[in-house]
Amino acid sequence: MDGMTTGTTASTVTAEGLHREYGRGQAAVRALRGVSVAFAPGTFTAVMGPSGSGKTTLLHCLAGMDRPTRGTVRWGATEVSGLPERRLAALRRTRVGFVFQAFNLMPAMTVAQNVELPGRLAGTPPERARVLDALARVGLAGRERHRPAQLSGGQQQRVAVARALVARPPVLFADEPTGALDRATGHDILDLLPRASPPPVPTPPAGRRSNGWSGPGPSAPAPRARAASARRAGRAARRAAGR
Ligand SMILES: Nc1ncnc2c1ncn2[C@@H]1O[C@H](COP(=O)(O)OP(=O)(O)OP(=O)(O)O)[C@@H](O)[C@H]1O
Ligand SMILES: [Mg+2]
Repeated sequence: MDGMTTGTTASTVTAEGLHREYGRGQAAVRALRGVSVAFAPGTFTAVMGPSGSGKTTLLHCLAGMDRPTRGTVRWGATEVSGLPERRLAALRRTRVGFVFQAFNLMPAMTVAQNVELPGRLAGTPPERARVLDALARVGLAGRERHRPAQLSGGQQQRVAVARALVARPPVLFADEPTGALDRATGHDILDLLPRASPPPVPTPPAGRRSNGWSGPGPSAPAPRARAASARRAGRAARRAAGR
């Protein structure tokens, strides 16, 4: 991916001059070559490009799952690229959600246990009400005791979306979340993604933020406007995915 540049002020996620090289010398692959990009709160963005163009690499760098060779990633005012691994892992749980193409659910666990798992592994299991709310947001109320094998592919991906949303992160990344689904089911997931986000966790008043982080704040669109923009986002996402 070469020199992509978009920008806004007050962005939730910002990358500047991102480079990511795999390997060295003649075998080196330059997956990202100076990507600068910024995502504003309340927006929905599709990253498009041919296979091998660096989309997954970019998402992993933006989500703090991979480190760029050069350049910076910021979540709010926090510079992610320089953080030690433990701090990054702790921050990642509350700041970003990630949905993978393969749902990556644990087959022996119930739906609710799958949604709880990342928090439980980190020693901070989410409250039951949060789990049920996340499942309701993806249309799976009442399915919390089922196992993944008792659900359709689309429903399994909904569980993965609920798992990514349960900590109420301000940013949700999804890497080809419809890639393993049939067209109609993929359609449903793309419609769901911009609508499923819960309201952000309240942040302390300005001036008392420990790390400069700010959520959408008072300028966030009203629920009706948000629903309308979510519908537009769903249509845009379907167009982007060729559905
Ligand atoms: N771990 C790795 N080691 C070496 N090269 C890698 C690694 N991961 C990715 N690459 C290379 O980096 C480039 C970008 O890969 P990436 O997976 O980001 O592309 P993509 O746009 O997501 O492709 P697709 O649409 O097929 O998922 C490719 O040339 C790929 O071979
Ligand atoms: Mg990819």
